[in-house]
Amino acid sequence: MKTEYISMTEENIDRQGIERAGEILRAGGLVAFPTETVYGLGGDALNPESSKKIYAAKGRPSDNPLIVHICRLEDTEAIAEKIPETYYRLAKAFWPGPLTIILNKSSRVPVETTGGLGTVAIRFPSNRIAHALIEAEGGFIAAPSANRSGRPSPTLAKYCREDLDGRVEMIIDGGQVGIGVESTIVDLTEGRPVILRPGRITKEMLDAELGSVDVDRTILSADSGIRPKAPGMKYRHYAPKGDLKIVCGSRDNVVAYINEAAAAAHAAGGKTGVIAAEDTCAMYRADSVKCAGSRQDEETVARELFRILREFDDENCTVMFSEAFDDSGIGMAVMNRLTKAAGHQIVDADAYRQKENGGVGV
Ligand code: TXA
Ligand code: MG
Repeated sequence: MKTEYISMTEENIDRQGIERAGEILRAGGLVAFPTETVYGLGGDALNPESSKKIYAAKGRPSDNPLIVHICRLEDTEAIAEKIPETYYRLAKAFWPGPLTIILNKSSRVPVETTGGLGTVAIRFPSNRIAHALIEAEGGFIAAPSANRSGRPSPTLAKYCREDLDGRVEMIIDGGQVGIGVESTIVDLTEGRPVILRPGRITKEMLDAELGSVDVDRTILSADSGIRPKAPGMKYRHYAPKGDLKIVCGSRDNVVAYINEAAAAAHAAGGKTGVIAAEDTCAMYRADSVKCAGSRQDEETVARELFRILREFDDENCTVMFSEAFDDSGIGMAVMNRLTKAAGHQIVDADAYRQKENGGVGV
């Protein structure tokens, strides 16, 4: 298949391009498009054949359900049942925006879209290109992140091209996305609301709206024995090709540990990478040092994280270290994605410093 490329901005939407994209979707084809979180790989959510194509294009296991994107709140009634009052409260507070809500599904949503589940994930994105596309499609676009399964979610159209060229009918380039980590997912089907995946809409923001929300225990835990409620969270997402470790502890111990470990890895023939906040970036010596943004504003870290992980792969880095970030607010999403990418390998540099007198083994 030859993939068609078009580009536009939120301020200057190419209406004809969007119409063509809508036709492709209505005919059962696939279109990658920007949202405010990450790029999505869209198909007609109510057409089981489209959902099957999405799984095939991504190389994704078909037990991992898709999110249905809408552009009118009243369309919820077509795809969901037993809608609780809390749904409308969250919609009013956070939509359009980076929040996904799980409800019981109606019979109109094929099980191919929900990975066999009786529930459906619903999201009303704020990106204006996404909004125009959903409208042109007729209202219901199923869209996972537009990466091949196992790779970081794309924050730029060039990463959609890398992963999906020749596998989808069209890719819409809308520039770099604003948020950079996928939407927050909240499950409303089981009494107390539960966060299944952290994102830009933080636990603190949801608590303020709903009283108190629970957090799925698997979000920051390394215990692979517990089954996450969002099936997709059980996969080792965002894994770079090399070995990534997170290093926590006091600033000086973290810098010292990473520099020693990176030097040892480099001496052993490895290509080394470091992810650091902007105030410590200059303190590292490694083959590739990436400045992820500011600790005072972790939104900047969220925006750069997936791009950095992809760049490490492009540069063939084999041994990588990341500073740890504060896990409150949007930091919970940053640390969730980072610990998954690291396969939960976390080093405590303070404990290490106490024990050691010599060099660092890798
Ligand atoms: O920001 C986002 O949410 C992006 C953009 C494109 O909208 N989409 C996205 O989709 O991240 P995806 O497919 O990469 O991640 C969807 C997550 C998966 O972990 C999946 O298991 C979970 O949502 N999910 C979907 N439907 C669910 C359901 N009915 N119950 C529990 N988890 C569900
Ligand atoms: Mg994904």
